[in-house]
Amino acid sequence: AASHTHGGHGTQPVAAAPIAPSTSLTALTADADRPADVHVELVARAERVTPEGGEPFDAFTLNGQTPGPAVRARQGQLVEVVLRNDDVPAGVTLHWHGVDVPNAMDGVAGVTQDAVRPGESFTYRFVAEQVGTFWYHSHQASHPQVVGGLFGALILEPAEGMDAADAVAAVHTYPGGQRTINGTVGDVHQAAAPGDIVRVRLINTDSTPTSAWVTGSSFRVRAVDGTELNAPMPVDGKTVPLTAGGRADVEVKIPATGAVRIQVPGASLVLGPDRAEASASPAPREAVDLLTYGEPADPGFDPTHPDRRFRYDIGRLPGFLDGAPGYWWTINGGIMPAVPMYMVKEGDVGVMTITNSSGEVHPMHLHGHHLLVLSRDGAAASGSPWWVDSLNVEHGESYEVAFVADNPGIWMDHCHNLPHASEGLMTHLAYV
Ligand code: C2O
Ligand code: CU
Repeated sequence: AASHTHGGHGTQPVAAAPIAPSTSLTALTADADRPADVHVELVARAERVTPEGGEPFDAFTLNGQTPGPAVRARQGQLVEVVLRNDDVPAGVTLHWHGVDVPNAMDGVAGVTQDAVRPGESFTYRFVAEQVGTFWYHSHQASHPQVVGGLFGALILEPAEGMDAADAVAAVHTYPGGQRTINGTVGDVHQAAAPGDIVRVRLINTDSTPTSAWVTGSSFRVRAVDGTELNAPMPVDGKTVPLTAGGRADVEVKIPATGAVRIQVPGASLVLGPDRAEASASPAPREAVDLLTYGEPADPGFDPTHPDRRFRYDIGRLPGFLDGAPGYWWTINGGIMPAVPMYMVKEGDVGVMTITNSSGEVHPMHLHGHHLLVLSRDGAAASGSPWWVDSLNVEHGESYEVAFVADNPGIWMDHCHNLPHASEGLMTHLAYV
C-alpha cells in the first residue's frame, strides 16, 4: 500500500485518539451487546501520497495509507469498524461493497446515515454471513473519494479458515492515471513456493471495466463477486472480465521454476519465489464467458414464477451538467428524481430486465442483495449459477436477472461508473 511515511503494506495500528461521539444515526443491530470478534479503527485523512514506483498526488488515506488496511474476518464473526474522519472536508462513510449487511450499516450518506464530518466517528457492526472477496469504499462524494484512495479490501473467510494460500490484488487508477495493484505502480510481488495453489482475489476498484490474464499457469475462476462458481474448469489463453466494482477469484498454480504473472493493463501481480521471473504477455483476445462457464446447479430459489417483474432501461438525454452541455442518464426514460423506485415485499422473487441504449457501458450495482443472471440478449445462462452484485451492461445488451428480497431496507441500485451515478444513473430498491 502507498503511504506517506513508509513503504509498508498492511495494517497500521492507530494510536488511541479520542473518538468524538457521532451525531449520525445510531446503528440498530441485533447484536448490540455482543463483543466484536474483529475490531478495526480507520482514520480518514486528506494528504499527499506517493505510491510505490509512482508520483505524488493529493490523496485520501485510511490510517495513512491507500488502499486502506485489508479487513479480514471469518464467517460468523462480528466485525466492528470504527470510522473516524480526521480532516476530509466533505465527510466520509464506508460502504461494504457486495456484503449484504443490515441496512443501517450500508454506509450510504443521505440514505442510511449522515456523512461522518471532520472530528466525528461512526461505528459499523455486522456479522460476516457471506464468504468471499469484497471491498469497502466511501459512499459520500463517492467519485473523488474512491479515486483519491478511500477504499480497501474486505476478505471474508470460511469459519474454519482458508484451505489454500491467497493473494489480494486490488486494481486501482489514481488521479493522474497511475495504474496500481495494492497501491504499487507496475509490478507488485508476493512470495509463493513452487507447487503452491494460490487464490488471487482480483478487485476492480475503478469506474471502468477491465480484465486480467495469467502467464505461467492455467487458471480457474473460483468465484465471482464473492460467490463460488460450480465446477469451474481450467482455462488457458483467455482473459477474466472484471466489472467496475466487481471481483473475480482466480486460482493459479506456482510452477516448478519461475513465477506466475497476473496482469491487468498497466500493472501486474507476480507470485513466486523471491526474484523468480515471469514474463509479461499481451492480452488474449478472448474472455471467459461467465454465462456458460462451469456447470449448472440449484440456485436455491425458483426464478421462473417471479412475484415482481421490473424493467431498468438505461438511456440518455442531452442536458446541462454544472452549466456545461452534456448528457443525463435516464432510467425508463426519466431523469433523476423522476425514476422508478423498485418496491418489494419480504420474500418476493423479483426478475429485472436491464437494457442499455445509452451509447456507453454501465456496471450496474445493487446494494444489500445479489443478482442471479438468467439470460443475456435472450440466451439463457447455461453455466454455473452466476451471482453478481456488479454487472457489466454494454451498450445494446439486455440482461435478465433475478433476486430474492431477503434484506429489509432501502437499497441503492446504481451505476458503479461513479461519475455516472452523480449524473443520474441511480435509483433504489425499497423493501418495506
Ligand atoms: Cu460500491 Cu453504491 O457502491
Ligand atoms: Cu454508467
